[in-house]
Amino acid sequence: MKRQLNILAIETSCDETAAAVIVDGVIKSNIIASQARLHSRYGGVVPEVAAREHLPVIIPIIDRALKQARLKLSQIRAIAVTQGPGLMTSLMVGVDTAKAMGAALNIPVIPVNHLEAHIYANFAKSKVKSQKLKVFPALILIVSGGHTLLVLMKGHGQLKVVGETLDDAAGEAFDKTAKLLGLGYPGGPALSELARRGNSHAFNFPRPMINSKNLNFSFSGLKTAVLYKLKELSPINYKLSTNLAASVQQAIVDVLIAKTEQAIKQYRPKTIMLGGGVAANELLRKRFKQLAKNSNLKSLIPNLQYCTDNAAMIGLAAYYKISSHRLRITDYRSFTAEPNLELK
Ligand code: KG4
Ligand code: ZN
Repeated sequence: MKRQLNILAIETSCDETAAAVIVDGVIKSNIIASQARLHSRYGGVVPEVAAREHLPVIIPIIDRALKQARLKLSQIRAIAVTQGPGLMTSLMVGVDTAKAMGAALNIPVIPVNHLEAHIYANFAKSKVKSQKLKVFPALILIVSGGHTLLVLMKGHGQLKVVGETLDDAAGEAFDKTAKLLGLGYPGGPALSELARRGNSHAFNFPRPMINSKNLNFSFSGLKTAVLYKLKELSPINYKLSTNLAASVQQAIVDVLIAKTEQAIKQYRPKTIMLGGGVAANELLRKRFKQLAKNSNLKSLIPNLQYCTDNAAMIGLAAYYKISSHRLRITDYRSFTAEPNLELK
């Protein structure tokens, strides 16, 4: 009988301490401890604080992930861990924990690119795993707090970045405008909640680079536009703030959808996928599905718990590295945390 491939995955790239267990490509547990409340006091993630907060929780989180998966440490065959990109000191906690466990258990430690893992959140779906749905070539829009990328994926390990942001990421645009509206951190969920009650046509915010010929993005001008609008309209009442939130959200999503549509025309993918924290945004999810339908394409969007940072996606990325024969489980590569690791 073939031995089960039990992978323990660890993610600590920012302010979430997460562990998961993946058995033969199926998620058995996915545990997350978020520090968001702690950082909201400062209006954003404080790297030094984030790293220190990972330390006391990482082992209990790993224990819980194993327990929920009903596996013992001795049954784990490999450990997957986020190598980067992310905050250096936060990444180090995960990487050093993984290496120490790997050495003690004498099992391999697999470094995973966090951005590639956001793509693999889509591979949690059984129709993808069973290959009932042929996904390649796929076009993926990755929208997180630090990155906005359009990626063409011809197969496992065959990734090409075809568009990216020239300044702020989409998540950053949400976070920074939310901060201007006094919504705290992380701003994306709070801003989109407020937007539900507002009129998205109330203000016509800029849609930067929406008509440019390339597939790049630029979001830094948006926060300046919001800042000027706030000064002009001050004092801001609740109704105004809902309209501002809805209009900003509409501008961000319009640009993301327009660029994805442009990329579809250019690259003719079979499927389009969404990934990263902003993929949790209700309007973006709706418009992305509509775009796929209008383009006669299948779309994949991760379940909400796999959009924002989690370890299940790290384990899935590692599983597909092994199952697509890009890595033999017996291979051991020495590696260190890479805060600026690129997607390639
Ligand atoms: O992928 P992620 O959890 O962390 C990074 O890798 O950066 O993404 C976090 C980002 C934050 O900017 C957060 O505000 C945004 O995702 N976000 C959202 C929503 N939920 C999270 N943005 C818009 N709408 C949401 N519902
Ligand atoms: Zn992320």
